[in-house]
Amino acid sequence: MSLTRQLRDEHDQIRRRLRDWDDLLVELESGIGTFAALRLKEEAQWVRSKVLPHIYAEESVIFPSLSERTPEGSVTLRRLSNDHTQLRELIAATLLMYEAHDLIRNEAASFKSALALWERGKASFSKVRASLERVFTLLHDHFGEE
Ligand SMILES: [Fe+2]
Ligand SMILES: [Fe+2]
Repeated sequence: MSLTRQLRDEHDQIRRRLRDWDDLLVELESGIGTFAALRLKEEAQWVRSKVLPHIYAEESVIFPSLSERTPEGSVTLRRLSNDHTQLRELIAATLLMYEAHDLIRNEAASFKSALALWERGKASFSKVRASLERVFTLLHDHFGEE
């Protein structure tokens, strides 16, 4: 399977899994049971093992292909001002995506550390839940657009 095809399939898988987070977040509003605590660990692990590698792969595919298409790299593009506009839009969109990836990475790291602190009794559960909600919102918005 090509990498772009694989990334597209992963979008579907990630969106499907995020739909389950809706229920998890509702469940967590009324406190945390043993089952939900296990789920939290699993979801944190999933973000680390599936979502973060996905966004990394996306960057390693999309960014190189974009730089191949810069005006410096293509005489044809340099001649076509229309394409310049399209290219600028593409670059702007990609930079936005890159920023969104950074936000996801940062928030995933906060979630991971909030979870670890809570497990050692050093943070309140509301911090973990708030962090999970932020990860959810970021992932939901980002993968909803992709
Ligand atoms: Fe993606
Ligand atoms: Fe992405």
